[in-house]
Amino acid sequence: MTNYLLPKILHGADYNYEQWLDYPEVHNEDFELMKKANCNVMSIGIFSWSKLEPKEGEFDFDWLDKLMDRLHENGLKAILATPTGSKPVWMSKKYPEVCRVDVNGKREPHGTRHNHCRTSPKFREKSVIINNLLANRYKNHPALLMWHVSNEYNSCECYCNHCISAFRDWLRKRYVSIENLNKAWWTTFWSHTFSDWDEIDPVDKSVHGLMIDWQRFTSDQTLDFFLTESAPLRNITPQIPITTNFMKPDVGLDYWAFAPYVDIISWDSYPTWHREEKNWEEAVKTGFYHDLFRSMKEKPFMLMESSPNVTNWQGVSIPKRDNMHLLSSLQAIAHGSDTVQYFQWRQSRGGEEKFHGAVVTHGGTENGRVFKGVKQVGEALNKINSVCGSSSRTEVAIMYDFQNEWAIAHSQFARNEEKNYQKTCISHYESFWKMGIGCDIKDFSCKDLTKYKIVVAPMVYMVRDGIDEVFKEFVKKGGILVITYLSGYVDESDLCFLGGSPGPLKELLGITVEDSEILNDFNKQSLIWNGENYNTSHFSERVHLTTAKVIAKFGDGVLNELPGITENEYGLGKTFFIASRNDQNLTDLFYGKLCNKNKLPEGISIVERFSGENRYIFVMNFNSESTEVNLEIDGLSELLTEKKEKNKITLEPFGVRVFKQ
Ligand code: GLA
Ligand code: ZN
Repeated sequence: MTNYLLPKILHGADYNYEQWLDYPEVHNEDFELMKKANCNVMSIGIFSWSKLEPKEGEFDFDWLDKLMDRLHENGLKAILATPTGSKPVWMSKKYPEVCRVDVNGKREPHGTRHNHCRTSPKFREKSVIINNLLANRYKNHPALLMWHVSNEYNSCECYCNHCISAFRDWLRKRYVSIENLNKAWWTTFWSHTFSDWDEIDPVDKSVHGLMIDWQRFTSDQTLDFFLTESAPLRNITPQIPITTNFMKPDVGLDYWAFAPYVDIISWDSYPTWHREEKNWEEAVKTGFYHDLFRSMKEKPFMLMESSPNVTNWQGVSIPKRDNMHLLSSLQAIAHGSDTVQYFQWRQSRGGEEKFHGAVVTHGGTENGRVFKGVKQVGEALNKINSVCGSSSRTEVAIMYDFQNEWAIAHSQFARNEEKNYQKTCISHYESFWKMGIGCDIKDFSCKDLTKYKIVVAPMVYMVRDGIDEVFKEFVKKGGILVITYLSGYVDESDLCFLGGSPGPLKELLGITVEDSEILNDFNKQSLIWNGENYNTSHFSERVHLTTAKVIAKFGDGVLNELPGITENEYGLGKTFFIASRNDQNLTDLFYGKLCNKNKLPEGISIVERFSGENRYIFVMNFNSESTEVNLEIDGLSELLTEKKEKNKITLEPFGVRVFKQ
C-alpha cells in the first residue's frame, strides 16, 4: 500500500527561504544540503505574509515562484503554508481590530505571532484574499503537494466586541432562551442570573457552565476561522490535501472537532529527551500523543515538526544523544506517522529562534553531528518506505477527552493540587506500553467502541455526549471497561448529578460512591493486591456495592477494608472500578493480569503496523544502556541493519530495529 501523498515517507523541514532573499549563496547551499540530507519535502511560507504582501494590496509572489520552481527542479515537494500564523505590521496599524483584546478589555499591541482575533471580519477578509491568490497561483504547480493551513492554532482567547457578540450568538443557538441558559449554568449561585444575552461576558470564572461554554466557543471559533481561510483552497485546489499542524495537547482546542475537516492529521512533537534519567518515561508520553493523533482519523498522520537537536524554549534542553534522533523519528513512524519533518531547516540569523535546533546551523556545514543524524534518518526512511499507509490493529482504547480535561481544570475540589487528568490517562496507557500492547486513544464524542476488547476510561468526571450509553453498549456486547475514581460527577453543562457519583454509570459499575477521600502527601492509604500492600495517593473514594464484587480491598488508612477495586458483570461483558489513584506498579499488575501478559524489559517499546499481509515490528530501546530483548524473529527480515539475530536481540543504547513479516 502506498501513502496517498507520495509513494514514500516524507522527510523534510520548515524552510524559511524568504529570510535569506539577500543571500543567494545560502539558497544554493540549502539545495545542495537538502539532497545530501535525503530530504524530499519542505514546508514553506509559514510566516511569510509581510513578504507576500509588503503593503496592503501590493503582492509579491516572485520569490515564492522561484522557490516553488527550485523545489521542483531539485525533486522536492512543497507543503505550502497559508501565512496567517503571523500578520504584517501594516495590518495591525491600519486595522487594530485584528489584534486581540485581553480579558481586561485592553487591546494587545502588534507583536509575536499566533495572536490575532479570529472573529475580526477584517482579519478574515485579508486571510481569504491572500489564500485565494496563493491557491490560484500555484494550483497547477508540480511542486505543490499539500496545504499547511496557518500554524499551530491555539485557543487564542479574544475579548473584543466581535468575539463577545459571536459568543452570545453561539449561546443563543445552544440554549434558545435565556431561562434555559440560566438553568444550565446554575446562575442563582452568587446571584449571577442573566436577564438578557447582552449581559453575558465570558470573564466570570465562578460560573463553571459559562467557562466551559466559553472554551467550547473559542475552539469552535478557531475551527470556523480554519474553515473560512481554507475555503479558497478547497474550492480552487480540491485535489490538494489540507492539514493544519496540531500541538501537544491540551492547548484549549478540541482537536477532535477539527479532525473531520482536515485530510490528514499532522502534529508538532517536541519531547524533552534527556531531561530525566529515564528517557522511556518521555517515550511513553510521546507514544500516547502519537497514538492520539493517529486515532483521530484511524489513519497515518504526519510528524510535521520535531527538533533535529535542541529546542530553545525549555529551561534546559539537552542535545539529542547519539542514536536518539533516529530513535525518536522512528518512534513516530512506529506509532503511525508517514513523515519525519523538522523545525527548522536552517537557523535564522536573528529573532527569537536563532538558537533553536536546525538541520543546518549558523556554521552551515554537512560535517556536524546533527546534520549527519538527519542524513542517517533519511537513509533509514528510504529502507522502510513500504510502511507508508499501513495502520495499527489494536484491541485496546484509552479514553482521553479535552472537554473533560477543561471541566476538571475549572472544578474546585477538596483537593486542587495534582488533579493530573492527562497524566493519569498516560499512566494507564503506560501499563500497555510496557507490555508492547498498542492502544488507540478515543474521546467522549466516540459513538461506538465495540471493535475493542478493553476500554480504559480514567476520571470520567464529565459524562457528555452520550458516552455513558456508548460504554453500556460496548460492555453489553462483551467488552471490558475500566473506570476510575472521579467519574460520573457532572453532566455536559457541568451540573452535578443528583444522587451522587458515578451518576449515569452506577448501574454499569454496580456501585455507588458515598464520598471522596482526599489524601494529603503525608496521609497513607494502602490498597491490597494479592496479599501485598501498594500505595495510593491524592484521590480515593468511599465505595458501596450494589451488584459489583470486590476484587481488592483498601488496607491501612481511613478506607481500611472498603472496596478498592470492584468488578461487575454487565450484559456479556464486565466493568472494573478503581477507587483510588494507585502506584504505577499496581496499575501495571492490574493490566498485566487483565491481559495475561508480561512486561518487556524496562525501557523497551515494541510497536506494530500492519498493511495487508505485512506486519512491521518496531523494537525500540529508550535506555542509555544496551538492552537485550527476547523476540520471535527467526525468519523475519530486519530492514535497517544487516544484523542477523535469532530470537534474542541486543539493542545498543537508544537503538532501534524494524522487522518485516
Ligand atoms: C512550534 C512552531 C515553530 C517553532 C517551534 C519551535 O512548533 O510551529 O514555528 O516555533 O515551535 O520549537
Ligand atoms: Zn476578537
